[in-house]
Amino acid sequence: MERLMDLTLTVNGVAVTRRVAPRTHLVDFLREELGLTGSHAGCEHGVCGACTLRVDGEIVRGCLMLAVQADGRRVDTIEGLSDSGELARLQKAFHEKNALQCGFCTPGMLLAAQELVRSGKKHSREEIREHISGNYCRCTGYQAIVDAIEGVIHGQG
Ligand code: FES
Ligand code: FES
Repeated sequence: MERLMDLTLTVNGVAVTRRVAPRTHLVDFLREELGLTGSHAGCEHGVCGACTLRVDGEIVRGCLMLAVQADGRRVDTIEGLSDSGELARLQKAFHEKNALQCGFCTPGMLLAAQELVRSGKKHSREEIREHISGNYCRCTGYQAIVDAIEGVIHGQG
């Protein structure tokens, strides 16, 4: 039988302790163990960005990080960042610009976009495109997503 490991971390501001298999990926732990299904598992190879999360303030690929690597750390997911209102301007802009269709990419896209917003710099469209190039969207063609992020960054969102 597989040996389990103790894991204690903070998820969206709440302390969580669980026993997990060492090979469990962080995104799977959040989805299956904690029911936080806003972070999606797409490629599970670090390519598509659907699993984007924040760990200790930095965005990471939840499919490339093991849950046990988050021991003692702070994890923020789309659920927590939505509830806190931090993403409100981006969410409004995505809605208004029709920057989502199926929505599969959207949680990861919002977390990636928020990195740019938090930087406080007036990024160009090219810089926005470059920054979200690790987050795949198979529906929108990206134009509306860049429009939405640009609007927030330049204060029109
Ligand atoms: S599911 Fe993690 S990058 Fe695609
Ligand atoms: S809205 Fe469907 S993948 Fe982006």
